[in-house]
Amino acid sequence: MENKINEILFSAEDIALKVKELGEKINSHYKTEDIVAICILKGSFVFTSDLIRELKGNVYLDFMSASSYGNDTVSSGTVKIKKDIDVDVKGRNVLIIEDIIDTGLTLSYIIENIKERGAKSVKVCTFLDKKERRNIDIPIDFKGYEIEDKFIVGYGLDYAEKYRNLPYIAVLD
Ligand code: IMP
Ligand code: MG
Repeated sequence: MENKINEILFSAEDIALKVKELGEKINSHYKTEDIVAICILKGSFVFTSDLIRELKGNVYLDFMSASSYGNDTVSSGTVKIKKDIDVDVKGRNVLIIEDIIDTGLTLSYIIENIKERGAKSVKVCTFLDKKERRNIDIPIDFKGYEIEDKFIVGYGLDYAEKYRNLPYIAVLD
């Protein structure tokens, strides 16, 4: 069965404005300090590429990919790192960049993992927050939009690897 793009939640214009706003908040937080930005693949790559161009300090960029297994209604599911960062985060300010936080399972694992490597600070920036789905409490330092519990695609987000290229964010039927 074909899935259908339903309602458009955020247009390309909405997204651009929000990314600028987030960039300003991040800039005023870090001032001139260097940042190690970690893009969580694959979904966050579009947001990351927009966001880092709003940042004024030195940005060191790396990528990480993790997957969670098991029933997502159980908070004890396991997470596996599929692709690790190459950069050494010890003593550095890390900004984790996510497309969307859903249950929070993947991200809570990543945050702990980065902290254990001795980062000076670990902050989280997510473009979207599906708050009511959260199983694990995650401190979100920079947030774009809170959204309802609907499956969305576009702006990097996929359904079965499709729709990542849409310049807007839409609800999938
Ligand atoms: P979590 O561990 O449950 O928070 O999983 C978050 C990840 O699930 C995100 O980084 C996305 O890759 C994916 N995800 C969650 N909700 C959606 C959605 O509505 N559309 C597309 N991907 C989603
Ligand atoms: Mg993701």
